[in-house]
Amino acid sequence: MGKILVVDDEPHLRRILISNLKQEHHEVVEAAGVNDARRAIAEYSLDAIITDQKMGDGEGLDVLAAAREADPTLSVVLLTAFATIELAVESMRRGAFDFITKPFVPEVLLASAERAMEHTRLVRENSRLRDTVVRLEGSSEITGCSAPIRELRAKIGRVAPTNATVLITGETGTGKELVARAIHRSSTRAGKPLVAVNCAAFTETLLESELFGHERGAFTGADRTREGLFEAAHEGTLFLDEAAEMSLPAQAKLLRVLTDGLVTRLGSTKARRTDVRLLVATHRDLKQRVEEGRFREDLYYRLAVVPLMVPPLRDHREDLPELCALFLRQVAQDLKTRPRRITADATQALLSYDFPGNIRELRNLIERACILSTEEEITLETLPVPGARKTDGAGHRNYAAPTAAQFAEMMPETHDLREFLASLEKAVIQRALKMTGGAQAEVARRLGLSRSDLSYKLGKHRIKSAET
Ligand SMILES: Nc1ncnc2c1ncn2[C@@H]1O[C@H](COP(=O)(O)OP(=O)(O)OP(=O)(O)O)[C@@H](O)[C@H]1O
Ligand SMILES: [Mg+2]
Repeated sequence: MGKILVVDDEPHLRRILISNLKQEHHEVVEAAGVNDARRAIAEYSLDAIITDQKMGDGEGLDVLAAAREADPTLSVVLLTAFATIELAVESMRRGAFDFITKPFVPEVLLASAERAMEHTRLVRENSRLRDTVVRLEGSSEITGCSAPIRELRAKIGRVAPTNATVLITGETGTGKELVARAIHRSSTRAGKPLVAVNCAAFTETLLESELFGHERGAFTGADRTREGLFEAAHEGTLFLDEAAEMSLPAQAKLLRVLTDGLVTRLGSTKARRTDVRLLVATHRDLKQRVEEGRFREDLYYRLAVVPLMVPPLRDHREDLPELCALFLRQVAQDLKTRPRRITADATQALLSYDFPGNIRELRNLIERACILSTEEEITLETLPVPGARKTDGAGHRNYAAPTAAQFAEMMPETHDLREFLASLEKAVIQRALKMTGGAQAEVARRLGLSRSDLSYKLGKHRIKSAET
């Protein structure tokens, strides 16, 4: 069912057309000429137009032009008693959907009108997909200059230009989607669509129909033919997010597509060739899912061609200030305000928090603080860093780190500054050694020291490390 505009200056013919269409339960709008048609195009949201070519006040080609200008997704069928090859070619060149000669067989005209409406819907569907694609192609800038993030960027740079399937893993909120966007952006497919689908958001059948498309009537509710995301991503990239949540039947189908590059819509037997690069993300341990029999092993090996692990924020805390600055700018832009600053003690509190929700949690905290506080500076009061969950992997409690001023308070009134700083340095290194189980490379990374600096300091403070 759709809404169709019938344009003909002959009332008798118009009536025949309209009654044919109404019999099939289509909604019909009528126009007695070109000017009338222009008004109708502006007024109604139409799915197709059938127009006569020769009319008192102009031509069907004028109606076609008006339609294309108002809404390029609208399909137009041209009807004429004076069919010439030239006219047929010209109308197609100008974007007509079909060309039918009078006298027409009602069934033929009806079939053409229905195909025209279907075509309009498909084109609109596609542009809807492209809209989500545009949204996905937002910023793909990966912020941070810590060693783990530099390494991540380098890996993205190496893997992007290839066609390899990449399995992006990492805890929730670490930036997996951002990594997928960055890979697409730096690939040769950057000019083509990046289509994303969240496998966790669909039921079994719906996910399959979303990915592979379906024919009309393929299942209850499939009231029209739809192209799948594989087809929509043709020559581009398809990002399968939360891939571990895919059902076993969907996994089997995906495996077939990956093996032969052919996509078959649900309810169809016709296989279509697609050229799609696949990026896959999950916060789950996919290998473990394989062991549990919840994920196909053969598919796992196809997906994990290049594994890419996005580190948790607690492993690159040194990026926190830069990330804070970025989010303060982004939030200010969203709220159309000036970027706020964060007080030193609030930053310190952030630095000592473990962020189980990773970068997304950080961004949310900052956004919430910016919305709730009207102050120029974000303080500890407006930035409530959760304290309850502050335990690190080694089971130590983390306390909000004291600020520099608080440290100064701790220093006895008369004391040698160098000695005080040296004892502080020693304590910090010892704590880091304890937290990492004596892993010196990790300690050096966390403290922003080179390995040789660290070993010099270990010697200087006579610290014995378990691991040498
Ligand atoms: N290195 C980074 N630089 C800048 N912004 C980042 C970085 N990493 C993550 N973000 C931002 O953090 C938020 C969460 O990232 P993203 O959605 O990519 O995480 P995810 O790993 O896909 O999370 P989930 O597992 O919950 O789906 C986004 O707003 C993203 O732009
Ligand atoms: Mg995600």
